[in-house]
Amino acid sequence: MSKYFGSKQENVYKIGNCFFTISDCIETMKKMPKAVVNTIVTSPPYNLNKKYGKYDDNKSFADWEALMDEVAKAAWNVLADDGSFLLNVSPVPDKKTKEIIPLDALAYFIFKRNGYALRNSIVWHFNNMQNCTNRLSGRWESILWFVKDIENYQFHLDDIRIPYITQNDKRLKEGGGRNPTDTWHFDLPESDFWYFNRVNNMTKNKLGLTEHPCIFPTPMIERIIRMTTKIDDVVLDPFLGSGTTLVAAQKLNRIGLGIELDDRFREIIEKRVINESVGSLF
Ligand SMILES: C[S@@+](CC[C@H](N)C(=O)[O-])C[C@H]1O[C@@H](n2cnc3c(N)ncnc32)[C@H](O)[C@@H]1O
Repeated sequence: MSKYFGSKQENVYKIGNCFFTISDCIETMKKMPKAVVNTIVTSPPYNLNKKYGKYDDNKSFADWEALMDEVAKAAWNVLADDGSFLLNVSPVPDKKTKEIIPLDALAYFIFKRNGYALRNSIVWHFNNMQNCTNRLSGRWESILWFVKDIENYQFHLDDIRIPYITQNDKRLKEGGGRNPTDTWHFDLPESDFWYFNRVNNMTKNKLGLTEHPCIFPTPMIERIIRMTTKIDDVVLDPFLGSGTTLVAAQKLNRIGLGIELDDRFREIIEKRVINESVGSLF
């Protein structure tokens, strides 16, 4: 464990190929060895006053920017030279003025000034969110794909190809497929776009996940991991939440690392890695 989190890190738990710690991600990343992580994929809190527990999700946007700046800096040291950082953020309403704040725009400039280069701004579309009556209903979030070095990064296109539009295209039989693209096409909802429905409440109840307010869809994280890492590479989620990134890493035979501030998610994380990555664990 100390190979990844450093020998002084407390509260580290192991499950299958995964290690996670209950702690603050900035402090923890500062103590981690340099360049041990191939890909970071994460969704930080969005300042939406969600009930995470320990974390106060009611900061000013200036405080949110300061937090992201510290994350970008600490992450730079743990990432390998050809590493990627995939950051999921969303447009969010200002709590007072209701003006929409594009967190992806704020995050872009923070990461850019810390040395990262943007490789793609991926649009993640979903259906099950609230309906607005005084503006268009929001149905997408960004996944900003940053790399440390634009001349040297992992991109495994062949591992994420999707079926060609014409079903009897003979290239399909040859095991090919096309680039999944970074945008949405209405006419091909299942294959063409980052179209993974958000985990809705019914699914959360079924999985016993009512404790966590915001969960990644696992297939989306699997695509990111296949796209930017190889088997046995290391994937880190510094805002681990309910543990989706570890489930995906375990399923794909990568080493999964996670950091979560709140101890009340520990049991959920362990349960999910055991229940949702069956087959790869035993
Ligand atoms: C948006 S959620 C992540 C959800 C996750 N993607 C999933 O699939 O469950 C953000 C998480 O970050 C945690 N968090 C907030 N500040 C943190 C910090 N400084 N260090 C580690 N975790 C933190 C919160 O407790 C919350 O669980």
